[in-house]
Amino acid sequence: MQNTKNNEIEVKSQQIRFVSHEIRNHLSVCDMYAQIIKRHIENDNYNNPSVLNAIDCIQKSLQIINMNVTDLKSLDLSLPKIINFKNTVQQAVELSKAYVEDKNIEFECFIKNDADICIDENRFLSCIVNIIKNAVESIEIKGKISIIGEVKDNFAILKISNTGKQIPQDRQKRIFECGYTSKQNGSGYGLNICKQYLNSQNSDLELVKSTKSETVFKITIPVK
Ligand SMILES: Nc1ncnc2c1ncn2[C@@H]1O[C@H](COP(=O)(O)OP(=O)(O)O)[C@@H](O)[C@H]1O
Ligand SMILES: [Mg+2]
Repeated sequence: MQNTKNNEIEVKSQQIRFVSHEIRNHLSVCDMYAQIIKRHIENDNYNNPSVLNAIDCIQKSLQIINMNVTDLKSLDLSLPKIINFKNTVQQAVELSKAYVEDKNIEFECFIKNDADICIDENRFLSCIVNIIKNAVESIEIKGKISIIGEVKDNFAILKISNTGKQIPQDRQKRIFECGYTSKQNGSGYGLNICKQYLNSQNSDLELVKSTKSETVFKITIPVK
């Protein structure tokens, strides 16, 4: 009896940690863009107090949402529907660029051929953003991230490659474990959340390779 109760609590608290992690990723995208707008306004000497106030309010709200995130009770918000592969990937790439900050990273995004897929759009966006965020974090100062999509044998395939730090051979099996991180401020949830979600949608996420010159992840989703 007690064990069942403890398991329920554990499952619930893990859900809360997962949801918090995903929300915080996107709060930092919003905050980064708010800072960029502010910088433009200051550089252009555009002194409109109500616009500056609006941006301050957005940033404050983001802080408050961040504080309240831990109150979330449920993760079950997935709504699979038919979406366009190419548009969604391009949107994810735009969102991810917020993580680049002052690094010198060249982005290449090329979708060879397109298809419709059936998946929850926001969850799929989050998966791609998680993988590109890791790619950005593995590049110290200068590097390249390639996002190449194609449709083959009734599967949409997305390969996300980056130059940067290699994942040591003996760690490559562990990167999908919940809580595995090699980063000082990492959570180790990103890849685990992505893989679990994609697997639940008859899809997959794999590490293709990680060498000194490049790391490649692959997402495979059946087309509709
Ligand atoms: N593109 C990458 N290049 C190098 N290491 C990576 C890459 N993607 C993931 N990793 C490794 O996998 C670990 C787990 O990633 P993730 O689940 O997103 O958690 P976190 O980013 O919080 O550490 C990272 O800490 C890192 O060691
Ligand atoms: Mg991560």
